[in-house]
Amino acid sequence: MVYPVFDNRVTRMLGVDVPIANAPMGGVVTPTLVSAVSDAGAIGMVPGSLGSAVTRDYVRAMRELTNRPFGVNIPVYYNREPKVVDTLLDLGVRYVTTSTGPVAPWTARLKEAGVTVFHVVTSLETAKQAQDAGVDGLIVEGAEGAGLRGEVAMMVLLPLITSQIDLPVIAAGGISDGVSMAAAFALGAEGVQMGTRMLTSAESVVHDKFKQAVVSAAETDTLLIDRHNRRPLRVLRTPSTAPYEFATEGDAFNELVSAVPRLYEQGEMEGGFACIGQTAGRIQEVLPVAEIIRRTVEEFGETIERLASRYLGR
Ligand SMILES: Cc1cc2nc3c(=O)[nH]c(=O)nc-3n(C[C@H](O)[C@H](O)[C@H](O)COP(=O)(O)O)c2cc1C
Repeated sequence: MVYPVFDNRVTRMLGVDVPIANAPMGGVVTPTLVSAVSDAGAIGMVPGSLGSAVTRDYVRAMRELTNRPFGVNIPVYYNREPKVVDTLLDLGVRYVTTSTGPVAPWTARLKEAGVTVFHVVTSLETAKQAQDAGVDGLIVEGAEGAGLRGEVAMMVLLPLITSQIDLPVIAAGGISDGVSMAAAFALGAEGVQMGTRMLTSAESVVHDKFKQAVVSAAETDTLLIDRHNRRPLRVLRTPSTAPYEFATEGDAFNELVSAVPRLYEQGEMEGGFACIGQTAGRIQEVLPVAEIIRRTVEEFGETIERLASRYLGR
């Protein structure tokens, strides 16, 4: 088997060997998991959704645990304060992803300071806006992924964006192994981000009942809540989320969010919402992060080799 060598815009910009990122999931990934991703040569992503004090602690912990590169995500919708930039610059962070809304007004300041910035987009229009704002790359989120998203599936969105916008793209949504990574690369991606797969890793700090719920979920066991107010959130179907599936008013996120810590920490699967993607139907076991990355890279290489041999006679 030929082991793939990744040398593309994503690996060069971020100084990594393997263009696979963990999703920056607050309350799910801690420096232990993120440093395991970085140590595997991949893109360790620190969540910045838990406030500046936690972000500071996490970044400091990362520097103790690894000397490999890592980035920080700031979900803009939840953190509009420009002072977040001071925190990131103070900490000497070199790679930032912004998500959950329009490109942050403070993107230019990060760029002026030499920080590499990728923005999460869910449509061609938001991708063009991010390009106009001068970001270095895009994270393209397909509708099949977990959490906040648009409603266009990766198979359409990714080739649409990569054919019209010349920026490096990391694909997020539905990727949990080497075949799905190879599919994303065929559609133009130069990196992938895994949420549901990393949530179901040994190092993820959510309760084991949450991980087992992913392992036993079928691909049909998720639904979108809050579509009517244009904040679609993909979650596991449970007695608490199902009533919101076709809601035309209200705000399911705000009504259920207070029970989410009990779900993560005590495994109370009802009462809040568990963000998971459709790829849960393809995840069969809890594995250590290093093993997830190793198997994904190996399977990526096998997939490309199989296609070349089957269709190009190589
Ligand atoms: C529990 C959970 C929390 C998440 N939190 C964030 C976040 O704070 N910021 C963000 O940009 N994306 C967040 N995401 C979305 C992921 O970054 C990722 O893009 C998505 O999970 C990809 O789809 P997948 O689950 O099919 O891999 C979260 C996902 C999950 C499952």
